[in-house]
Amino acid sequence: MSNFLTDSFGRPLEYLRLAVTDRCNLRCFYCMPAEGIDYVPRKELLTYEEMLRLTRIFVQLGVNKLRLTGGEPFVRKNFYGFLKRVTKIEGLDKIAITTNGAVASRHIPFLKEIGITSINLSLDTLNKDKFTEITRRDFFDQAMETYQAILAAGIKLSVNMVVMQGKNIEDIIPMAMLTKNDDVTVRYIEEMPFNGQGQRNSLHFNHQKIRATLEAELHELSPLPFTPGTTAQEYQVKGHKGKIGIIAAHSRTFCSSCNRLRVTATGHMKNCLYDNGVLNLKRMLTDGSSDKMICEAIKAAYQTKLKDGHQAEAQRLKAISESMSSIGG
Ligand code: 5AD
Ligand code: SF4
Repeated sequence: MSNFLTDSFGRPLEYLRLAVTDRCNLRCFYCMPAEGIDYVPRKELLTYEEMLRLTRIFVQLGVNKLRLTGGEPFVRKNFYGFLKRVTKIEGLDKIAITTNGAVASRHIPFLKEIGITSINLSLDTLNKDKFTEITRRDFFDQAMETYQAILAAGIKLSVNMVVMQGKNIEDIIPMAMLTKNDDVTVRYIEEMPFNGQGQRNSLHFNHQKIRATLEAELHELSPLPFTPGTTAQEYQVKGHKGKIGIIAAHSRTFCSSCNRLRVTATGHMKNCLYDNGVLNLKRMLTDGSSDKMICEAIKAAYQTKLKDGHQAEAQRLKAISESMSSIGG
């Protein structure tokens, strides 16, 4: 127990987000330019063995929730085999995956059996043509198949919709209607500048506008108590089976209870989505450092976690230019 880590603001470390690849089979407008991003050479990615070792170390430090992200995790070779191993690690109460659903559907029926507790499916519209326009790829039907497969498997499902002025504002209400009959949480995310090109323009459609749009159409929308350590303010629409959530990802209203850190696909630890890396774990994993040395380095790096994402952004050495696909969303 003495190993459990809190940062200098008293926030415990409980949640690790691990990017298993920087590769993706979609080209979402808000994440990458049309031509894609320069993927790192394969040998610079963490290996599955390294990820398993790191996860065990983080569990010793108090992590009890793991999210596997990417890129698109299911495009990495033998991701399912890795999942079978990672779910055997003792001490993880929750193991979640974030996926775009394009090639995941055939794996879904097995995920519950091996202990996956929840899945976030990225889906920005229910209109097939618009999906193709936003993601620049034709995978709408596969994504919806994955949606149905997750519900059928009885795995907790959240849908992430990035809200973009001029692209999918008119999809806000149709997406909310998924919650009428489905046990799903539809989460609206403010667009962030992690598009592989940097800040394009200011954020037009913030969390207040999202909420106002929902309230104008859906009567009896009641806020649910905020759970510390999460990012979404959730709401219940009266009579609906599922829930709605709004994530102020760019406004950053939830940092005071943040309990997470990230490890990128190349093994860089980040205390915040907005910082540009605090520790090169890949180097320690390959230079003969012991688990104890890695533990100590993580502890020291976690102590430098800043108060919030605005400070993290202000203290970056270089302006934001990375893609969400290389950070791990
Ligand atoms: N702004 C907000 N959310 C983003 N995501 C990817 N890029 C951005 C961005 N620029 C979201 C995706 C996915 C999760 C990994 O991050 O929709 O659900
Ligand atoms: Fe791929 Fe996700 Fe980026 Fe879309 S947002 S291109 S699905 S990594």
